[in-house]
Amino acid sequence: MKPVEVHLIAAARPNFMKVAPLHHALQREGWCRTTLVHTGQHYDDTMSEAFLRDLGLPHPDVQLGIGSGTHAEQTAAAMVAYERTCRERRPGWVVVVGDVNSTLACTLAAKKLGIPVAHLEAGLRSNDRTMPEELNRIVTDALADLLWTPSPDADANLRREGIPDTRIERVGNIMMDSYELLRGAIVAADVPGSLGVTPDEYAVVTLHRPVNVDQVDPLRELVVAIIELADRMPVVFPVHPRTRDRLEAFGLWDGLTATRGVRACEPMGYIEFMSLVREARLVITDSGGIQEETTYLGIPCLTVRDTTERPITVLEGTNRLVSTDSLAAEVTTIIERPGLNRSSPDLWDGATAPRVVASLRRVVGR
Ligand code: UD1
Repeated sequence: MKPVEVHLIAAARPNFMKVAPLHHALQREGWCRTTLVHTGQHYDDTMSEAFLRDLGLPHPDVQLGIGSGTHAEQTAAAMVAYERTCRERRPGWVVVVGDVNSTLACTLAAKKLGIPVAHLEAGLRSNDRTMPEELNRIVTDALADLLWTPSPDADANLRREGIPDTRIERVGNIMMDSYELLRGAIVAADVPGSLGVTPDEYAVVTLHRPVNVDQVDPLRELVVAIIELADRMPVVFPVHPRTRDRLEAFGLWDGLTATRGVRACEPMGYIEFMSLVREARLVITDSGGIQEETTYLGIPCLTVRDTTERPITVLEGTNRLVSTDSLAAEVTTIIERPGLNRSSPDLWDGATAPRVVASLRRVVGR
């Protein structure tokens, strides 16, 4: 019997660590042939190629090269390009991950051609419809045929939206598979050692959400908080290109980088970044994935957002939502508090990819 062509869609930095374990697991299956499709939403070496290299992903089979743009431009470009790919290659199944614009675009393009779609990391909801990712999640989940969820809250969200149980399958959090696959390399990388910071005595900061970085006032308040924190411990800050651009445009970059104790650097690859996070005293972020990785690693995380689509990281893990006003007090609490509960949520165990493969194989009927 001819193998089923399965497309794995990768687009932006947070996608690669979700796609990689599944790609590796599917490569070992005889019943399918995996095609890695990169939409090109992220294109800098530090945002894309570095992750492919670290995670052992091959050069993508299909490169759509859509690049940056407004939301409509980016979504439309991915739809047009991916529709062409689908017409040429007629995949049997399309797997999308996460919540970026390309996730939505490729789902729409495939479904309009009658091609079934599975969504990995389905069901997450911040209940904040001003977030572009929330709109991407809602529409993707409404359309996808198979919804692979990481946690019980995600199942409940989908049921509340009227999605039948037959389309929902809890598989756990695939990002932990990436961590476990690369644990040896992550430990060996010793990034704290090469930066000259002492384990458990430094902070890591990442920021890129439009709500935090696109306007001068919130970004200035965050820079002030980082400068204050650097007085207490070294702060390593790998800077996302969007954030770097805004810091420079608002005249905040020079002051930040001239501050003693602040190490602003280029975005890091996966292995380097995980090596940095696993030994940190605390992490300040607005990322989705880092809320989960810190929970898995038992590292205190302060998330500069009003809401999270990952409430399990607050309920069971090490995450707390903070505002720019409460950030300093929360940092003090962490510094003064002894060790945290290090348990991680059910099925965040490094064995999600085989569960996803088994589920896909079942629906494909092979
Ligand atoms: C996107 C995702 C967000 C995810 C984030 C991780 C959406 C709606 N947003 O946001 O969910 O958390 O990726 O990074 O899909 N740029 C570069 N080089 C690159 C990529 C981007 O310089 O390789 C710059 C460009 O100026 C671009 C800007 O960063 O306009 C923003 O990139 P974009 O992909 O639009 O959104 P992100 O903020 O990265």
